Amino acid sequence: AYVVTEPCIKCKYTDCVEVCPVNCFYEGANFLVIHPDECIDCGACEPVCPTKAIFPESDLPGEYKEYKELNAKFAGQWPNIAEKKAPLPEAEEFKETKGKRSQLLD
Ligand code: SF4
Ligand code: F3S
Repeated sequence: AYVVTEPCIKCKYTDCVEVCPVNCFYEGANFLVIHPDECIDCGACEPVCPTKAIFPESDLPGEYKEYKELNAKFAGQWPNIAEKKAPLPEAEEFKETKGKRSQLLD
């Protein structure tokens, strides 16, 4: 499965949602996740994310390893999102910011 990682936090551009053929994205207050059992590994979402937050599980950078579990956990708790919407108001400001993990709202 593909995995959403830290750069999405406080941005949530949702371009990924628009291209996913199986609608396997789930939405929290300031982050999105992919349901690992629903993703068909098509790869369509990876290149369209403006923050480059999406990686295949097999190519997850070491610093983002915990996001595999976070995606699985929150996919079971948050509502599905099937349509693109406006990014968060602070998205441009936080697009390049590192170290946003502590600001993830569950
Ligand atoms: Fe959806 Fe394809 Fe991305 Fe998986 S890899 S989340 S199926 S767009
Ligand atoms: Fe987040 Fe990128 Fe999708 S910022 S909402 S993973 S397009």
